[in-house]
Amino acid sequence: MPESRCLQGIWSSPWIFIFAASGSAVGLGNIWKFPYVLGQNGGGAFLTIYCLCLLLVGLPVLVAEVALGRTVRSNPIDTVNDLSERRVVHPAWVFVPWLAGITGFLILTFYSVIAGWSIAYLDRAVSGELVGITQAGASNMFNGLLAAPTEMLLWHSVFMALVVLTVGQSVTRGLSTIVRILLPVLIVALLLLASYSMVIGNTHAALDFMFRWAWQDVTFEVVLSAVGLALFSLSVGMGAMFAYGAYMSKRMSIARACSIVVGVDLLVAILAGLLIFPLVFSFQIDVQAGPSLTFVSLPIIFGHLLAGQFFAGVFFLLMVVAALTSAISMLELFVAWLHERFYIARLNAALLMGVAVWSVGVAVLLSFNHWDSKLVFGLNLFELLDQFTSLVLLPMGAILLSVLVAWFIPRSMLQNEMITKRASHFQWWYNTLKYISIPAMIVIVVAGWIGV
Ligand code: PHE
Repeated sequence: MPESRCLQGIWSSPWIFIFAASGSAVGLGNIWKFPYVLGQNGGGAFLTIYCLCLLLVGLPVLVAEVALGRTVRSNPIDTVNDLSERRVVHPAWVFVPWLAGITGFLILTFYSVIAGWSIAYLDRAVSGELVGITQAGASNMFNGLLAAPTEMLLWHSVFMALVVLTVGQSVTRGLSTIVRILLPVLIVALLLLASYSMVIGNTHAALDFMFRWAWQDVTFEVVLSAVGLALFSLSVGMGAMFAYGAYMSKRMSIARACSIVVGVDLLVAILAGLLIFPLVFSFQIDVQAGPSLTFVSLPIIFGHLLAGQFFAGVFFLLMVVAALTSAISMLELFVAWLHERFYIARLNAALLMGVAVWSVGVAVLLSFNHWDSKLVFGLNLFELLDQFTSLVLLPMGAILLSVLVAWFIPRSMLQNEMITKRASHFQWWYNTLKYISIPAMIVIVVAGWIGV
């Protein structure tokens, strides 16, 4: 690949990768998905398993994706094409980056709708509608939004326009500045709000739910949900981190950078849990409510808070920006490929992909109201996409990408890339990926699918 193209795209400082990757990882997955999946899967046992999945599956796979991206400095599709031309891997492997790109595409179709909900709440927060809101008021507000497809369409379109404009620029520019400000502010905001929620809410029940281990909650389906959520939350299994690794400076240790990203991601998720669950238990919201959980419980805290209008505005703005910095990484794979392979301007490539995602997104938002028909397994389009991407596509992508890295890419190629001070670190990661992460993912996925 032409060196000049690569060099233009390298992050200007090693730390920028950490910010960009954290920007991709931290998003609706932490604030919206983590609480509701935890709620549906019983709490404490799920959280412990989730942490294990982050460490034993998420982190090694993240390192594998980033290392491969940095080694080849190209987009995933061209990389595998190139490796197969050089007879390093069989041409059939080209299927893997395509699967990854399609997964990102499908995730974005519903992610954008949910991000649209966040913009709708930002609008309500700024116009003062959350001031003094009661629990019944919060439920009505959410149901009202779901029943208003035109409003959802408006915000979904606004969000997709933002995604297209941002991905249309080079991701190595601008993004890191946004994330550098966003992340600390988001963490401080979550800390403050979670503390307040623990004062006004039922903290005892929340902590008991989140941290108490119960054997009866452990099934393969729960473990599969934990793996799916860990992959979703770290943005691995669909080439996003591969694409970001391709822009990473050689001066940074991949293992160190990825460990920081995992730590930040978990911290934000736990804080979101500590914010939501005291409210859930104090206001008798159904813990199993599913995707509505965050949006029904959050407004209550702003309704109670002094200067709630201001805090609500800031919080939902942060949530939208966090969603944006994640969403752009979902399109990056195809946009980089169209740009590097066919020399299509990034903005045009982003527009092309954006229109396609937007169209499917319209069907997704209709599945909350006019078109709430069950398609397969008793799931509507949104539920199908949400579950199919997390429980099938991401784990499959992660397994295949890891097998490619662990068993087919020459070891020496990876070893040069890892830059850790001690060779034992490389060995530790390589063996974990080969002998723990891959077999564990295969067993969990197969057992989870057949419903053991
Ligand atoms: N990790 C992002 C989040 O938590 C979502 C995401 C999934 C981003 C897959 C890119 C790829 O919100």
